[in-house]
Amino acid sequence: MLSLITYLSKEELLLHLQYYYYDIFIAAVFIFVATYFLSKAWRRISSTERAHIPGRLGLPFLGETISFLSATNSTKGCYDFVRLRRLRHGKWFKTRIFGKTHVFVPSIEGAKTIFSNDFAQFNKGYVKSMADAVGEKSLLCVPHESHKRIRRLLSDPFSMNSLSDFVQKFDKMLCQRLKKLEEERKSFVVLDFCMKMTFDAMCNMLMSITDDSLLRKIEKDCTDVSNAMLSFPFMIPGTRYYRGIKAREHVMETFREMIARRRSGTEAPEDFLQSMLEKESLPPGEKLDDSELLDNLLTMIIAGQTTTAAAMMWSVKFLDENREAQDRLREEQMSIARNKPVGASLTPEDISKMSYGSKVVKETLRMSNVLLWFPRVARGYAIRKGWHVNIDATCIHYDPDLYPQPLQFNPSRFDEMQKPYSFIPFGAGPRTCLGINMAKVTMLVFLHRLTSEYKWTVDDLDGSLEKKAHIPRLRSGCPITLRPL
Ligand code: HEM
Repeated sequence: MLSLITYLSKEELLLHLQYYYYDIFIAAVFIFVATYFLSKAWRRISSTERAHIPGRLGLPFLGETISFLSATNSTKGCYDFVRLRRLRHGKWFKTRIFGKTHVFVPSIEGAKTIFSNDFAQFNKGYVKSMADAVGEKSLLCVPHESHKRIRRLLSDPFSMNSLSDFVQKFDKMLCQRLKKLEEERKSFVVLDFCMKMTFDAMCNMLMSITDDSLLRKIEKDCTDVSNAMLSFPFMIPGTRYYRGIKAREHVMETFREMIARRRSGTEAPEDFLQSMLEKESLPPGEKLDDSELLDNLLTMIIAGQTTTAAAMMWSVKFLDENREAQDRLREEQMSIARNKPVGASLTPEDISKMSYGSKVVKETLRMSNVLLWFPRVARGYAIRKGWHVNIDATCIHYDPDLYPQPLQFNPSRFDEMQKPYSFIPFGAGPRTCLGINMAKVTMLVFLHRLTSEYKWTVDDLDGSLEKKAHIPRLRSGCPITLRPL
């Protein structure tokens, strides 16, 4: 045919086209229809194939629950359960835990499909204990429409522009506490220190709470609520669920009293709560009602404290093991410090100059995987309806094709742009972490003060992980001793 065309003159070719016009048209329609049906059939075949994801479902309900619990209960951490199955079955695998089928999704393509179809094809599984603990109006539990509205109303105080006040207050508090620890010259546990710091800073930013005994009381209650989020919802005294529900009642009471004092005009400090209460005269769509406000205050404290504190702890550990990165970070931070008056607090402009510091934060988050995977439930897609899909952020962050030598702590790898969905410590899509900017600035301020003013020695090098924790944390909490530079 091709050779025939080359021998035909232009006029002859046009003549043939006119002559065979009808046949060509029919052939084109036929090719189009055939391609459409073939591609549809292929998609059906490949989706059935994906339904045959390797893995063991084991006994009905029980499945592999015992192995999961024993990994959670070991110092290797619950991700060891995933690691072992991946060795046995390959990257994609399915398993059954507590009666539910879970598929672990290890690829950026899978992450993209789920994140960009969040709420439509996938949703967070409804967990009764979670809704009972943090409240039904929490961002973690509400349906799509409410989620969009609540998130829009909560977001502004967490934007980079609004965090200037938070940066200064956090920096001041941190400097005082580090100075005290340095003067005492005693070993202290970084994790405990960071848990307290992040909690106090968050309560200050949200509700201007500074009284230490009140802070410790709320912290104890929030820890109980957090522990109840993934427990069996039986109201039996002595259980984690029971303690969590009781603790929730106490916290809610404290928050309600605070709101009442603001409404009566006895108190009006400038903070997150006040900015929300000032919207009271607005129409219903433009403000949060009391239960939405209360549930989300609790949610933000719980979602922000343990995650940020664990990431801060890992940054100390990783920098201790990688002196070159520590020295380079110290150089950058000291040059920022030298350009500021003595005793001045950090500002968002200083933060924006921390280019290597930001890469240290990213590399810490990549390697520590504070949230190991992000769970969703399929609403009927290639994966069967009702199955749980877990976007395996840990597997993606350790994929050697995306991150060469993934076990090496190398902040400079972030000199290059990342592929979409390959760096997801804060998730992606409509449920991206609300506190992403807050977490980043908290870590940067911490790293600035730690490296530009101190050196430290780690007093316990044991790398084993805390048992029964869903967030990977060192069992030792990383004790260190500070020395001034
Ligand atoms: C290093 C620290 C942090 C990490 C690694 C982290 C990680 C994440 C991730 C991965 C998600 C999405 C989970 C999913 O898609 O299933 C999330 C959601 C969330 N985070 Fe964070 N987070 C951190 C700090 C914070 C802080 C400081 C806050 C304080 C406001 C916060 C508040 C939230 C909230 C409210 C959500 C739910 C958002 C929604 O569903 O719309 N997080 N976080």
